[in-house]
Amino acid sequence: MSMGMTETVAEAVRICASEELVDGGAGVRRAAKLGGGDVVVFFVRYDGHAYGYLNRCAHVPMELDWAEGQFFESSGLYLMCATHGAIYAPDTGKCVGGPCRGGRLRSLQVDERDSPGGRAVFWLPDGELRPATP
Ligand code: FES
Repeated sequence: MSMGMTETVAEAVRICASEELVDGGAGVRRAAKLGGGDVVVFFVRYDGHAYGYLNRCAHVPMELDWAEGQFFESSGLYLMCATHGAIYAPDTGKCVGGPCRGGRLRSLQVDERDSPGGRAVFWLPDGELRPATP
């Protein structure tokens, strides 16, 4: 009965050139789908590494960035939800303060590597969370 059950292999999605993600700086947003609904995912750089998360606070399911792409709080050490100030560790997505305590952001698999267009950040979609079809 496996006929028709297609196993979709995650295809790496190019997000941006590596230099576009500045450590502790603005994040890159991308439209995505989750269970048929429209969502947003985002990518940031922290301590040299690129990370990606579903743009959905663990407190109330709202996007984190009130000013588009602004995910870090002023010290550049934490991601912050603009609505009630929940803060998250940028490398794990774990809530480390505020009303989300004990929660975490839904992380994405991110790969950074050399590609024909230069070094770039890629998203390797997993589970129900997929890129929105262009
Ligand atoms: S919705 Fe993010 S802290 Fe309340």
